Amino acid sequence: MHAKRKQMSNRTFTMIKPDAFANGYSGAILDMILKAGFRLTALKMTSLSAGKAGEFYAIHRARPFYNELVEFMSRGPIVAAILEKENAVADFRKLIGATDPAKADSGTIRKLFAASLGENAIHGSDSDENARTESDFFFSNLERI
Ligand code: GTP
Ligand code: MG
Repeated sequence: MHAKRKQMSNRTFTMIKPDAFANGYSGAILDMILKAGFRLTALKMTSLSAGKAGEFYAIHRARPFYNELVEFMSRGPIVAAILEKENAVADFRKLIGATDPAKADSGTIRKLFAASLGENAIHGSDSDENARTESDFFFSNLERI
């Protein structure tokens, strides 16, 4: 029981991507996140330079869609947040749905707010380690509770 609890994450990082921000969905998406039981421990509106977007998604550097992804992610404002909830990483990935909105379950954020595989409204960390790295990428200690 203790070992299992220790392994369970309680924080994840998210970003409302430029498509969803531009479409005016930020409020509705944050509302869904809060209603699903996540608490905000950091929140900001900002925008990424191409350099910063490339750094954030550096893991995909070799993929054919990398340039498109960097261009998209640096196209306009985003909302970045750190979220807290038991089992945060896995539960949040469930809430946002599959990468391709066409394959996302109904009721998920991507199903409701995303238009395509490339422009899919929201990011969610895929591991505890990446949640920490990504949170540190965006937020100083002064900016979190
Ligand atoms: P993130 O939460 O944003 O990390 O998405 P993910 O974990 O569901 O998917 P993944 O990390 O594999 O891909 C990162 C992002 O790259 C996706 O969310 C899409 O925005 C984009 N992406 C993935 N596959 C494709 C693709 O085939 N074409 C294009 N244009 N973009 C893609
Ligand atoms: Mg990912």
